[in-house]
Amino acid sequence: MGHLVSISGSSTTKPPATVRAPEIEPGVGCNFDSYLLVPDNALDDRIAAAKARLGEDVVILGHHYQRDEVIKFADFRGDSLKLSFQASEAYARYIVFCGVHFMAESADILRRQHQIVVLPDLNAGCSMADMADIGQVEACWNELSSVVDASQLIPVSYMNSTAAIKAFTGEYRGSICTSSNASAVLKWAFEKGEKVLFFPDEHLGRNTGYRMGLPLEEMVVWDPYQDLGGNTPQAVRKARIILWKGYCSVHQRFTPEQVARVRREHPGVRVIAHPECRFEVAQAADQIGSTEGIIKAIESAPAGSEWAVGTEIHLVNRLSKTFRDRKVISLDPNVCVCTTMFRITPQHLLWALENLGSGNVVNRISVDERTRHYARLALDRMLALR
Ligand code: 13P
Ligand code: SF4
Repeated sequence: MGHLVSISGSSTTKPPATVRAPEIEPGVGCNFDSYLLVPDNALDDRIAAAKARLGEDVVILGHHYQRDEVIKFADFRGDSLKLSFQASEAYARYIVFCGVHFMAESADILRRQHQIVVLPDLNAGCSMADMADIGQVEACWNELSSVVDASQLIPVSYMNSTAAIKAFTGEYRGSICTSSNASAVLKWAFEKGEKVLFFPDEHLGRNTGYRMGLPLEEMVVWDPYQDLGGNTPQAVRKARIILWKGYCSVHQRFTPEQVARVRREHPGVRVIAHPECRFEVAQAADQIGSTEGIIKAIESAPAGSEWAVGTEIHLVNRLSKTFRDRKVISLDPNVCVCTTMFRITPQHLLWALENLGSGNVVNRISVDERTRHYARLALDRMLALR
């Protein structure tokens, strides 16, 4: 057996160039740190070999914000909606999710009995999902019930939320949505009740509601740290959508000033922004679109067209490299990276695959049965709107 090399330190530490490559035998269950010593030029071959050894036992799902070195191994790439369909349709024994924690949780909720979901780095979380804590949401619901008829209140939760929030949504007759289908889900919700509690992304809720024709005055923000979310009872009674005060730290960085600047510097440019961007940016842009929507828009654009894109930088750079006859730039001149998506490194992927190859499951994501049951109701309501 090859000797195991274990080093301490953070998982992002790079080994010095002079360190000899460890002879780690595949699937020996060694700890992750050993994999930091695998030289970059050996990673690709080893990942490909580990994946080939697993064959049909593994499917790798990759979100568009993953780095190139990782996403190139994905069997399926997509936005949150597309990947949740892939997860619900997969048969492989192992689903390795190159994305963030809430995505792997959703895959675990949708998986078949025999399947196991793995997230290569458990630190790949989402700051937006963490902004709606289940205790806060339950307290919000109780407060709202004291001023409005709760039977007319439908919860709509963005995919970017914890399994506990999804379960709450399912239990209270609501649905999940993603940035690709938020308007269809809101339409569905308004057929079931008069008001929607939308969480955790304030901006996706407002941008979608406004584009469906709801005036801004009929949408109030719920701040979980204030009584009645910082609203008067009258304002809550008048509101059609109650927007949870949550946001994406990446998309929050785009500003209307950047839109104005890019239009000045690139006459004729089309600006396309993700609906997690704030309202003023969405209003100033020519188009809004989920990650999948952004890809489709640029894919179908004519050669020579110029695009400024308000979303995560790995997707923007990939679009720029893929469509060389179109000019694709980021709306933000400074790099807008999702640091938690970036946690999934090729080393993590290799570690997960080689361990699976020896029957050793690492970083399994497992949602308890009760949570799964109710969260599945909410996800199924969304998937039925296909
Ligand atoms: P979509 O993949 O639904 O476009 O969402 C983007 C995102 O922020 C994922 O975390
Ligand atoms: Fe969360 Fe934003 Fe990163 Fe998506 S891009 S995972 S919403 S922090």
